[in-house]
Amino acid sequence: MRYFITGTAGFIGFHLARRLLQEGHEVTGFDGLTPYYNVKLKEMRHAALSQFPAFKPVIAMLEDRPALEKAVIAAKPDVLIHLAAQAGVRYSLENPEAYLHSNVEGSWNIMEIARRVEIRHLMLASTSSIYGANATVPFHETDRADEPLTIYAATKKSMELMAHSYSHLHKIPTTAFRFFTVYGPWGRPDMALFKFTKNMLEGQPIEIYGEGNMSRDFTYIDDLVEAIVRLSAIAPSEENRLDNVAVETLSRQAPFRIVNIGGGQPVSLMDFVETVEKALGRPAIRKMLAMQKGDVPRTFAAPDLLVALTGYKPDTTLDVGVKAFVEWYLDVRDELDA
Ligand SMILES: NC(=O)c1ccc[n+]([C@@H]2O[C@H](COP(=O)([O-])OP(=O)(O)OC[C@H]3O[C@@H](n4cnc5c(N)ncnc54)[C@H](O)[C@@H]3O)[C@@H](O)[C@H]2O)c1
Repeated sequence: MRYFITGTAGFIGFHLARRLLQEGHEVTGFDGLTPYYNVKLKEMRHAALSQFPAFKPVIAMLEDRPALEKAVIAAKPDVLIHLAAQAGVRYSLENPEAYLHSNVEGSWNIMEIARRVEIRHLMLASTSSIYGANATVPFHETDRADEPLTIYAATKKSMELMAHSYSHLHKIPTTAFRFFTVYGPWGRPDMALFKFTKNMLEGQPIEIYGEGNMSRDFTYIDDLVEAIVRLSAIAPSEENRLDNVAVETLSRQAPFRIVNIGGGQPVSLMDFVETVEKALGRPAIRKMLAMQKGDVPRTFAAPDLLVALTGYKPDTTLDVGVKAFVEWYLDVRDELDA
């Protein structure tokens, strides 16, 4: 199969592309190598993917429609997986414009191109952040998600909405997945696991927001990739409508479905810190801080729809996943800091 993946120099895109290349597929990886975090890490990911002859990197921005269009047409993909985005909840308070450009304009460019080429399946990365501060848990895809707390969440919700209309108008089979705090080797430097590990190794304090009274449904990267790969074979259509599943999200107007990818096992922030301490064999210096603007108190996935569609539920334990991250970090930290 031929895949066109955006965001392959990013954390999730890298892992997904590697898995598909290992299975013998062709992957074109489109990424603008944005300077949001250490570009060296992005270059290292692309260098690792370039070991595979079937990997074709294209370095350009989503906002550059001619470059994007040229790359998609040349790749002739069966499946287009759009992961590139301005990610991160906190940075969206500082620089909302980056989110509008990458996540709204950039995603719209993807849709404009997807309607002109023939693809079997368009897949888009959305986020658990769009559930905002919903109090009813676990979060089902059918829950109301119209009260985003950040521009990050608002731009992802906008992408979902635009995608539904494109799917309806142009009959593009589309799956929007909502990811829940993904972590693992090659992870992002702006996320808690990376920051905590780095600071604890350097004897620096770690900042714990919300006085530790928060919880997250962590998803190990290999589990997430497994779920995406399985879902990629299930392009939404009336033939695969799940009539007996209460949380089926397949639209009545379009071949469009929203699917949570998370295991439904939230972990409290303090337990998370203890798991990192255990993996590193050293204690953290805890700096307790108030909840940050835009933070949500909890995320908690209902994985029922994912399980009904794929028979699969993310199940790697936090102990195992954090240990794998720490091993990777110890291996690359000198190169990353050089
Ligand atoms: N990691 C998580 O926990 C998580 C949770 C929910 C949703 N997501 C979503 O999953 C996707 C992948 O996330 P990630 O953790 O791999 O993030 P990442 O920042 O590591 O990867 C995103 C990649 O997209 C590229 N990019 C950003 N804006 C671009 C633009 N305008 N044009 C071209 N390239 C651009 C970046 O250079 C980067 O390599 C994102 O859409 C993100 O919003 C991630």
